[in-house]
Amino acid sequence: MSLSDFEFSALASESAVHRSVYTDPAVFAAEQARIFRRAWLYVGHESQVPSVGDWLLTRLGPDEMILIRGEEGALSLLHNRCPHRGARLVAAERGSSRHLICPYHAWSFDPAGRLTGLPLPEGYASTFLDDASARQVARAPRLQSYRGFIFASHAAEGPSLPEFLGGIAFAIDNLVDRAPSGRVTQVGGALRMLYRGNWKLFMENAVDLVHPGFVHASAVAAARADREAATLTGVTGQVVQMQLANGLRPAEWNELSIHGFSGGHVSMDSFYRQGVIAAQRDDPVFQRYFEALAGAQGEERAREILSIDRFNNLLWPNLSINSRFQAMRVVQPLSVDLTQVTSWCFALEGAPEEMTRLTLRFLTAAASPVSLVAADDLEIFERCQRGFAGAGPEWLDISRGLAVDREVDGETIAPGTSELPIRLQFASWRHWMSQSGSAV
Ligand code: FES
Ligand SMILES: [Fe+2]
Repeated sequence: MSLSDFEFSALASESAVHRSVYTDPAVFAAEQARIFRRAWLYVGHESQVPSVGDWLLTRLGPDEMILIRGEEGALSLLHNRCPHRGARLVAAERGSSRHLICPYHAWSFDPAGRLTGLPLPEGYASTFLDDASARQVARAPRLQSYRGFIFASHAAEGPSLPEFLGGIAFAIDNLVDRAPSGRVTQVGGALRMLYRGNWKLFMENAVDLVHPGFVHASAVAAARADREAATLTGVTGQVVQMQLANGLRPAEWNELSIHGFSGGHVSMDSFYRQGVIAAQRDDPVFQRYFEALAGAQGEERAREILSIDRFNNLLWPNLSINSRFQAMRVVQPLSVDLTQVTSWCFALEGAPEEMTRLTLRFLTAAASPVSLVAADDLEIFERCQRGFAGAGPEWLDISRGLAVDREVDGETIAPGTSELPIRLQFASWRHWMSQSGSAV
């Protein structure tokens, strides 16, 4: 099947999308070429590769990559593929070495991907190795850090990183600004979840505020049954308080605001109000944290930083940023109906150690394989994916709230239960999918 540019953009309108955008391998292949081989995508944090030779296995769209620190601090994003016969250069999650040595015929490369040695070099006289590019591990043409968070693109041309981030850059700023030292460090390992559904289902659900009271009803009920735990101070009651927060009434969800930006990025107001998860607290840990932040930034600026109270901030196409709990979730499409979600936590340098535990527990309770809440969402994604494949309407409605979207200071604002985020995500999808030709 081959669809023209017009046909791709015809699969999503302002008010409905065709179910094939979730199920058709041809659409998925085009998304990989037109979105994931062109857009700026998050690949890692500077603190994960602090010293020369430190490397991290990551992904850039469809390709497995190595983020590696070279001489004088220079970062490279190398394809995990030997230029000789194509073997995967590394297999571990991370490591440190001034040379990457291919396990097959032992060619070695420096952190910039240049060939530095090989056995029996005389055998290659007057061969393909005369071509300099044949001696170089392929690398992403564009790599740039934004306040320590590293983004890359397979495309040599296209919007700059600041242009691409647009209005959602505030979420990264707010995450980093919360650190008294002005720096964050990645802590712990990565959490990974797989689901048998299309990648877009995760991005749509992360700011869908109709579903929590229904999809997460059993977690809310379990938390309500444990009244004592909900009143515990400190992190002991945190998970119960998080589950209780999903129990807002539909009208209360609607009172939150959705903030949409050009480029398909979306931010939602927070709904964590009580206990250790509240934005402002008066317990001793928070007081020590506030004093550290105010000591570094001044009291007024510290209050301003902490007053930004958003929950999921989605950087289209595949990153969810939680500034308040210093977490990043990356949505990695593996096939049209298989998706991996990888999450990382960050510690606020200069903040009390207890703040890091709050962060780790947040991500474990909200987005790990042991999360009661995440399991509910994954179940729904798989139900949707199975539903799309069956007989029934070809078109899926995304028009809820369309009549009340309004523009305010460069943002599109909508009530919490609007489907504005899905409309914005598909507007960006149409934009990128309607541009053919190679960008690499
Ligand atoms: S495949 Fe890497 S050295 Fe041969
Ligand atoms: Fe959910």
